[in-house]
Amino acid sequence: MRKLWVGALAIAGVVAALFVIAELRQGKGAMPLPGTALRELGVRRGVLPGTAVRAVEMRNNRAYRQLIAQQFSVLTPENEMKWGVVEPERGTFQFDDGDYIVEQAEKAGQIVRGHTLIFEAQLPGWVATLDRGELAKATKAHISRVVGHWAGRVAVWDVVNEPITDAGGLKRTPFHEKLGPGHIATAFRVARRADPKAKLHINEIGAEAIGPKSDRLYEVVRDLRARGVPIDGVGFQVHANLAGLPPTFVDNLRRFAALGVEIAITEADVALKLPPSAADLRAQARVYRDIVRSCRAVKACRYLTVWGFTDGRSWISETQPGSGAATLLDAQLRPKPAFDAFQRALSR
Ligand code: XIL
Repeated sequence: MRKLWVGALAIAGVVAALFVIAELRQGKGAMPLPGTALRELGVRRGVLPGTAVRAVEMRNNRAYRQLIAQQFSVLTPENEMKWGVVEPERGTFQFDDGDYIVEQAEKAGQIVRGHTLIFEAQLPGWVATLDRGELAKATKAHISRVVGHWAGRVAVWDVVNEPITDAGGLKRTPFHEKLGPGHIATAFRVARRADPKAKLHINEIGAEAIGPKSDRLYEVVRDLRARGVPIDGVGFQVHANLAGLPPTFVDNLRRFAALGVEIAITEADVALKLPPSAADLRAQARVYRDIVRSCRAVKACRYLTVWGFTDGRSWISETQPGSGAATLLDAQLRPKPAFDAFQRALSR
């Protein structure tokens, strides 16, 4: 009997020690950010502030996880719901990291923006090898399965991502090449069937200014609406830099809103040349301020998501050599002038 007790205590001790080690490895809790949380300000303004998040970081970094819960209302998995992650082999689905993000969001009373169903980047190799008929089948199966898996739990989907070229054509993706331009309408219809309650958006990069790219996007959305295709919103990514926002941005958002769709800013960041000067950081703050003001100037603009909130975890420095420091907080999770400007613009 005694031996059993000693054994049980020893096991309990080891388990407790493992917990302590795991906690220590997660680092300290977050330093609180000054002022009213962005998500609280957002509720008052009718704009939901969001951020792209990474499952691995949320799992392993307590301060990162805490700040997400405190500050934001909408989470977009940065990569965890992309085709290459969720269906690496045909018919084999991996939902773990996406599930984890959805669970965390639910715990914190946040909604999830699903990103993304039809996108030529980060596709698994097998997709491009399919012929027309098989690609049509695989695409429908992918959308039904993924949207169905998170039905009722992902509030908004980026159904189609970045379909337009800068020159204003439809991109020659495998989907467009093999299925034709009708694949866009089909994707929306299949998504709607899989979750009738989710809002369905088209999302585009570099379409902030009125010009060939946004004109084509506008035509696509107008045409889909006119044909009764279930599209609810348009996302503007707003990957910006110190050149600032184009002067036509707000007018551009307004003409889309006039089509009856909701507007989202989906991936805002403001890239700087490394290392940034103090003046660069101040100029960056003004661009973030303008992003918030632009959204607030348009009633239909309801979502304002940044593509990562800390310079320690941002795709800019990871994919664009010489650029970085693009987010609201520095790599130590301390507020930059950009955070203050974003918060003020949301308060006023
Ligand atoms: C990026 C991610 O942030 C990176 O981690 C990944 O390596 C590449 O993709 N437009 C989009 C996003 O819609 O999916 C992209 O995300 C950034 C540009």
